[in-house]
Amino acid sequence: MFSFEIEDVWEKIERIQESCEAAFKLKAPHLAPEEPARDIDLLHPKFHPPKKGFSTPEGQARMLHDLASIELQAMELGVRTLVEYPDAPEGFKEELVAVTVSEAEHLRMCLEGIHSLGFKWGDWPVHSALWRAVSQQDSLLDRILIVHRYLEGSGLDAGDTLIRRLEGSSGKATIQHIVKQINFEEIGHVDFGSRWYREICRSMKIDPNADFPERMDSLRARLPKRIEPINHVLRGKAGFTDEEIQYYEKLRLDFLTPRSEN
Ligand SMILES: [Fe+2]
Ligand SMILES: [Fe+2]
Repeated sequence: MFSFEIEDVWEKIERIQESCEAAFKLKAPHLAPEEPARDIDLLHPKFHPPKKGFSTPEGQARMLHDLASIELQAMELGVRTLVEYPDAPEGFKEELVAVTVSEAEHLRMCLEGIHSLGFKWGDWPVHSALWRAVSQQDSLLDRILIVHRYLEGSGLDAGDTLIRRLEGSSGKATIQHIVKQINFEEIGHVDFGSRWYREICRSMKIDPNADFPERMDSLRARLPKRIEPINHVLRGKAGFTDEEIQYYEKLRLDFLTPRSEN
């Protein structure tokens, strides 16, 4: 059984290594479910209850709960890529296992942070927007671009904003530490995506500089809109070129500017 088929969140974490190893050894693609298994309510974000400020333990726990849901999906998407692309390069799969295990550790840190604030997993609903941003029809390059460069890349921008908001609130130091450590390690996850995106382009004799805007143009309609200011320093550390960063700046402006109806 793969982690996305297990319901209990702690069991998902405990069995992640085993799940990755089984996925790594597959010879043929395995079908991933439309929704990952959950032990708590799975709801579209528009039906989630309103959030409280970070000055309250409840507001901080809710933020960590939202982050836990993202880490959980990131972890499950790692296994999903392994099961859907058994023919991916061995080196890519090896690094992806390490990234996936790191996501499980992020999830555990978030859950422990929620408990330290007197709350628990399931006190709020979660969504599956990241899981739903990918498709069985994706090529491996699409998948790397969506998960590791677009979604995790915009997570770097959002994480940095979150750290600054937490520093300006009366939040617990341990909660700030969790968010800082996660965002620091996410740079490596995004860099993994940047390096392998170029490496796979090279092996297919594709120019990554021409491919990036074309592929993003073809995928953007189905991606969740990300409007957080782009953090050029973190993006640079995570392997984005200046041209790629400029592409995301323009995409963000497009998302922020409602299209005219006529
Ligand atoms: Fe993570
Ligand atoms: Fe990540």
